[in-house]
Amino acid sequence: MFALVYSSVATGNPGSFDALLATCRRNNEQMGVTGCLLFVYDESDGPDYFAQFLEGDQPAVEAVYARIAQDSRHRDVRLLSSGPAPGRRFTDSPMRLAELPSTRILAAARPRGLSVASPSVESIMRDSRRLTSLVASYGDDA
Ligand SMILES: Cc1cc2nc3c(=O)[nH]c(=O)nc-3n(C[C@H](O)[C@H](O)[C@H](O)COP(=O)(O)O)c2cc1C
Repeated sequence: MFALVYSSVATGNPGSFDALLATCRRNNEQMGVTGCLLFVYDESDGPDYFAQFLEGDQPAVEAVYARIAQDSRHRDVRLLSSGPAPGRRFTDSPMRLAELPSTRILAAARPRGLSVASPSVESIMRDSRRLTSLVASYGDDA
């Protein structure tokens, strides 16, 4: 098993995810790829972000990722982590979707010490360690 996580900036309002998820389902099932797509939306002026966890055989995951990276519905696609994984985490769905407000991301990352500044949504979405565990946590029992 091979897994990767990337994040990106959404280029517009993606509207309904139905069409995108139908494409994911069709392609990913065929390729044996599963995972989770996180859509992090901002209720004020900031951009919306995607983060995605993809898992399967390495050639299949890399082929799907290469196609996704070309998609104009997002930009600044950045690979955050990739490598062998001990097993499949998302066994029940070719691509699970989770939509959450950026305030949730901020709350989860808020530092405990008063003297430490809170990270921005942008920096959290580019933080490999944080994002990898956040996205992966939507597997199994989420
Ligand atoms: C954020 C995001 C995530 C995507 N995830 C997947 C995916 O998991 N699997 C997939 O096949 N396509 C995914 N796509 C769509 C691909 O970029 C591409 O449009 C699609 O694979 C083309 O499939 P088609 O040639 O069968 O229409 C995603 C697109 C975006 C913007």
